Amino acid sequence: MLARPGDFAEWRDAARGLLANQIAPENVSWRGADKGASLFGGDAPPAPDGTVSLPRELLAMADRAICHRDAGVPARLYRIVWRAARDRQLLARTTDPDIDWLRKTDKAIRRDIHKMHAFVRFRRLGEDAGRESFAAWFEPSHRILRLTAPFFQRRFYGMDWAIVTPDARAIWADETLTYGPGGTKDEVPGSDVVEDQWRTYYGAIFNPARVKIAAMRAEMPKKYWKNLPEAQDIAPLLAGAGARVERMRETAVSLANPQTDKWRTRVSDELALTDDIDTLDDLARAVGGCTRCPLHCNATQAVVGEGPAAARIMLVGEQPGDREDLEGRPFVGPAGQVLNEALVEAGLDRTRLFLTNAVKHFKFEPRGKRRLHQNPTAGEIDICRWWLDKERALVQPDLIVTLGGSALRGVTGKSASITAMRGAVHDLGGGTKLIATIHPSFLLRLPDRVRAAEERAAFVADLARVRDLAA
Ligand code: URA
Repeated sequence: MLARPGDFAEWRDAARGLLANQIAPENVSWRGADKGASLFGGDAPPAPDGTVSLPRELLAMADRAICHRDAGVPARLYRIVWRAARDRQLLARTTDPDIDWLRKTDKAIRRDIHKMHAFVRFRRLGEDAGRESFAAWFEPSHRILRLTAPFFQRRFYGMDWAIVTPDARAIWADETLTYGPGGTKDEVPGSDVVEDQWRTYYGAIFNPARVKIAAMRAEMPKKYWKNLPEAQDIAPLLAGAGARVERMRETAVSLANPQTDKWRTRVSDELALTDDIDTLDDLARAVGGCTRCPLHCNATQAVVGEGPAAARIMLVGEQPGDREDLEGRPFVGPAGQVLNEALVEAGLDRTRLFLTNAVKHFKFEPRGKRRLHQNPTAGEIDICRWWLDKERALVQPDLIVTLGGSALRGVTGKSASITAMRGAVHDLGGGTKLIATIHPSFLLRLPDRVRAAEERAAFVADLARVRDLAA
């Protein structure tokens, strides 16, 4: 009689006694305590007597297989160890029905363990003496809590937690792991603040271009969905996948213009760098030959600011992107699209603004056929300030709006925090004011729709402040 179904130590002790006393499998009746006493009464297994050596791999598989819910498992495992004690090659006989069964059962358990590692979701219960406590409800297919709890112990060593399953619970408290009886779902809170983090994480790793529904179902079978906070996002994410792929296609980067080198050589031959820049046209020609930093080597062309020379408001971005690099105009790509929409919403007319960037050449990393944007370094921004200062001197705006951290550095010459400077109007001297806000591409990177909507509203509000100030 096994008092604790799924307990390997209990089964192993019984099996050792039986093996050592040469009790053949057909003379043993295995019963779980939950099934009641055997009809035939019967003797307790004899105490181990001597040792029986068995392959380590077999014991490791038996340790997992005993967790299987099938009531016939203890008996079948005993038959296998009985045979293995007489046939050292048994495990290698893959066509043997017992070994085939053992490998399949082992695989089912390993899969169940993998799912539990991946899909347990803790809910925060509270905090006591500086230690946070969490609880999770999980319904594994088999009795695997004993095999999975050490994983959570290593992962979440610094907090107290309990994992409650229908069969048993594992409790990690005061750096001690203990087990208790099974429980019910209502013992664990249904949702909490951590839930949003799971949903954000899932949204972030969801790649609409790689949707394979059958593979997703195999990896995250439906039976786990009810306890996964992020599962409610699956349908909307799938529904929006087509549109997102289309958008990715539209905004995909393209190859640099192969004529660039020829063009650059000609421009730099014709236009040596000069201090003799009196108009925006002079500046545009001169920057075309700029070799002040290595960024000119790979970019298609320098992208200078665009807008009326008499503009009262100057918007400064980071650097041209892929589209801007090819077209030679600022903010014509995806970030420019976001900016345009926000400007309209804030009541600002783009054609009356001067739009430019802290860095004039596109910095990217080639990845196959694609060019992936890279942030400019502080040094590159500082070198390029020479051009930005020229633009500022020519346009003489009353108000400069920096979009993102690179722009803020380009304008102020310091690495300042946007968060610290946002929401206030700063004095740049010489009658020029500064408003710092985020870069519109930040909004494109936010996977969480609620957060993206909030950040976008804050961005539009910053631009509306710009409009009010200018008025
Ligand atoms: N991002 C920028 O900072 N500037 C552009 O011109 C385009 C994208």
